[in-house]
Amino acid sequence: MKGRSKENNLKFLKAFEEYCNVACDLAFKPWCYIIDAVFKRTHYYKILTKNKIIMSTIVNEVISYKRNIIKQNKDTIECDKYSDSKSEKEFSILDNLLEDHGDTITDLELLEEILVLALGGTDTSSVTACFTALLLARHPDIQEKVYQEVKEVLGDTTRPIHYDDLPKLKYLDAVLKESVRLYPPAPIIGRLADKDVTLPSGKIIPKGTTMVFNILGLHRNPKFWGEDVELFNPDRFLNDLPHPAAYIPFSYGPRNCIGYKYGMLSLKSLLATMVSRYEFLPSPVSETFRLEFKVMLKEYNNFQIRLRQR
Ligand code: HEM
Repeated sequence: MKGRSKENNLKFLKAFEEYCNVACDLAFKPWCYIIDAVFKRTHYYKILTKNKIIMSTIVNEVISYKRNIIKQNKDTIECDKYSDSKSEKEFSILDNLLEDHGDTITDLELLEEILVLALGGTDTSSVTACFTALLLARHPDIQEKVYQEVKEVLGDTTRPIHYDDLPKLKYLDAVLKESVRLYPPAPIIGRLADKDVTLPSGKIIPKGTTMVFNILGLHRNPKFWGEDVELFNPDRFLNDLPHPAAYIPFSYGPRNCIGYKYGMLSLKSLLATMVSRYEFLPSPVSETFRLEFKVMLKEYNNFQIRLRQR
């Protein structure tokens, strides 16, 4: 099917990356979009529009393909979903949305749902996996503790990880949490004040103000995390945390991340598998981290490490 080809996957990812790069650039150049008519003449606008069309076209192709299948062969789909021979993972979120709301949900609503999930759920997890791998490469003692834990839980490290293994990987859990404390994939988030907000200092943020929350800054505030705030120390997550709002890699409050549990499970599964098979070693290129902000927090040298088979 056209919309789901490997080529389209790459096209989608490339368009997403280009879109994010430009959106990020623009965030620091507000003068570019004060006047709509001027903004529409900039190369930023052209790149954003081009990539938005690429992403929307690919998702729309998938939506119409699925809608057609359901229309043509609803009975077969029902069988596919519940038959023992078809694994559940082949039934996607889009399938579920169409199954439950197919007659009422519009293509635009589906497009928005799928784009938010695709964009919110992919780079965040991959960036976390990469930062964690870099940290483990630079902290062999911590990596060894993760390896020993994985070995103990799995028994046989050549077998695949199962869902039931994941809650037992407590140290790996702490490692991942400490990794996103130091390197939150979304280092800043924005909110619009829907009413006047009085801060503890007495200052008032008027209704209608756009606010930016510095998650990275909060996670490195010694007031909450102590003087060793810059240190990669997973043990701090084996103890009680400071105030819950001092640790917000998945945001906080009613609009926090809806995928954080799934994200943590998939990351634990990925890292445990990798650590059980490979030793992570530092690369001379990534000797020191050089952070860059590309909507997500990234590493300037593309997270290079070396791997040695165990
Ligand atoms: C380590 C992994 C992840 C991190 C650090 C993360 C972080 C975040 C953050 C900070 C937000 C708030 C963004 C904002 O308000 O501007 C957010 C929202 C969101 N995340 Fe995640 N996320 C992760 C994984 C995932 C996964 C795996 C999914 C989906 C399967 C997902 C889906 C979403 C969605 C749909 C929202 C928007 C929620 C809303 O606006 O109501 N995230 N995430």
